[in-house]
Amino acid sequence: MSMAEGPGAWALVLHGGAKEIAPEKEQANRDGCLDALAAGVAVLRSGGSAMDAVEAAIRVLEDDPTFNAGRGSVRNADGEVEMDAAVMDGATLDVGGVAAIRQVRHPVTVARLMLRDTPTLLVADGARRFAQAHGAEFCEAANLEVPSEDAAHDTVGCIALDMRGNLAAGTSTGGLEGCLPGRVGDSPLPGCGLYADNAAGAVAFSGDGESISRSMLAARVMQSLETVPPQDAADAAIARLSRVGGEAGGIVLDHIGRVGWAHNSAHFAVGIATSRDGRPRAYLRKREETAHD
Ligand code: GLY
Repeated sequence: MSMAEGPGAWALVLHGGAKEIAPEKEQANRDGCLDALAAGVAVLRSGGSAMDAVEAAIRVLEDDPTFNAGRGSVRNADGEVEMDAAVMDGATLDVGGVAAIRQVRHPVTVARLMLRDTPTLLVADGARRFAQAHGAEFCEAANLEVPSEDAAHDTVGCIALDMRGNLAAGTSTGGLEGCLPGRVGDSPLPGCGLYADNAAGAVAFSGDGESISRSMLAARVMQSLETVPPQDAADAAIARLSRVGGEAGGIVLDHIGRVGWAHNSAHFAVGIATSRDGRPRAYLRKREETAHD
């Protein structure tokens, strides 16, 4: 298990989706995770906040068409791109989320703008109007889409611990290829796709949103962290999916920066960097970590 314990410790873990990754896409997934790690780690190393680091890392993932978020988003049954994103601040338990939002370049930034506001979640035209009112960057729908043959990929997420002991979590997704218009998965739902609480830890999931929501996987992890380390919490959450079926991957940090992650999908693109290890690492399968570390 990677660790970042001690005063001034920081840690950042991100993922590019629980999915099957074709051999020719492996390098792009690793490179994309490392690029996003670099953006998030730069924030943490300079003393920035966990929330700033999460947003910075996810913005890089949203701009990378390798990942199903922002620019790489898949299309719904009407051929439209509708995106979901959320962030959660572990210091205040503030949540900001948007769902089924169209044509914004960085859904995570719109979610961040919602953080100190009520309500915690805005959908569809309401989310879009909020984004417009707050000066979010818009782009043509065509610039958000990838060809459907590249669509076997899922959701991005990031969790971080900053030097002041604050935790944050964020998710962003284009949803499921060919899904019903207006369908919303786990990603913007606290307790399902993400959660952060300075008293316990932070978590973000990727995978089959209906299964993750029905199993309340993020809530399960937070409860587990009261008694077990992050790796055990991640393993236990993924094991719960056997009841409802479905594929998922989850990344977990506890309040002292210990890392856990698990998946039952063929691959799970994950990037990890902590103040203790220094060296940013990207993996596509859990077994790579045990083989190399
Ligand atoms: N995990 C993303 C979704 O199901 O929408």
